[in-house]
Amino acid sequence: MKKYLVIGNPIDHSLSPIIHNYWIKKYNLKESIYEKRKTEEKELEKIISEIRENKIRGINVTVPFKQKIIPYLDDLEPTAKKTESVNTVFKVGDKIIGYNTDEPGFGMTLDNFFSKKNEEFKNIFIIGAGGVTSSIIYALQKLNTNIFLSNRTIKKSIELKDKYPKIKILNWGDRPASFDIVINTTSIGLKNNEKINLDFRDCEKDKKKIFYDLIYNPKKTNFLKDAEKRGNTIMNGQKMFFNQAMLAFNIWTNIKPEIDSKLIQLMDK
Ligand code: ATR
Repeated sequence: MKKYLVIGNPIDHSLSPIIHNYWIKKYNLKESIYEKRKTEEKELEKIISEIRENKIRGINVTVPFKQKIIPYLDDLEPTAKKTESVNTVFKVGDKIIGYNTDEPGFGMTLDNFFSKKNEEFKNIFIIGAGGVTSSIIYALQKLNTNIFLSNRTIKKSIELKDKYPKIKILNWGDRPASFDIVINTTSIGLKNNEKINLDFRDCEKDKKKIFYDLIYNPKKTNFLKDAEKRGNTIMNGQKMFFNQAMLAFNIWTNIKPEIDSKLIQLMDK
C-alpha cells in the first residue's frame, strides 16, 4: 500500500485528503491512499523514519510543523531552504527531502493580478508572521514592490526582516498609508466570528484594491465579507491550496494532475 499523509495539529479542517484521493482515483493509482493524521511534535521523528522504511510514501506538513520538521530531514530543495518552511516530504534515493510548494502555489495565483498590471502594484501589506508568511514574502519580493508586515508578536516580524531585509515592519494595529493588496496570513477568521482589528472603511468603492485571505475554509472570512461589501476585489486561499497540492502530487507521482471542475465542485460542498 502506498500511503500518503497530511500531518498537523489541528488537522480536522484539512481538505487535502479530498483533493489527493480524488486524483489517486482519477489517475488510477493502485493501492494508494491519502489520510490525515493529528500529530504531536514528539512523533515527527517516527513519521520520518516510517518514510525511510517505505511504510509511508510521502507527506504534507501543515501548521504548526512546517519549520519543526526540518531537523529530521536529510536535505531541502532551494525554496524550502530559503523560506525555512517545508510542506511536502518525499524520499529520493536514500534521502528524505523537504520541499516547499506553498511558495510557487501562491506565486501562480498572483499571475491573475500582476502580469497585466505590475506597475500598478507598488505597496503590499501582509498581516501575520506565521509558518506560511515566509513563503508569501519570498514569492512577492521577486516583484519590485514595497512590502509592509504587521504581526501581533513583533519578534516574529523581526525574524522575517532578518531573512528579508527590505520589508518594512509596522506595529500591530497599524496599516501602511497606501496599499494595493492586503494579504491575511494569520489564522484569524478560521473561526467564523473572528475579526481582524483594522479599519479599512476608507477603501470604500475601491475595486482596484485587492483583499486576499489565505484561509479557504470558511470560503469568506469576515475580512473578505467586509471587503466585498465595500466593493473591493477579493480572493480566498483556494487557488493557492489547489496549486500547492498539485505541485506536491507531482513530486510524489510525476503526474501533473488537473484541477478540474468536478474537483472544484467537490471542494465547494
Ligand atoms: P505559527 O506562528 O506557530 O507558525 P501559524 O498558525 O502559522 O502558527 O500562525 C499564526 C499567525 O496568526 C501568527 O501570525 C499569529 O500571530 P502571533 O505571531 O502574534 O501569534 C496570528 N494570530 C493567530 N491568532 C491571532 C489573534 N487572535 N490575533 C492576532 N494574531 C493572531
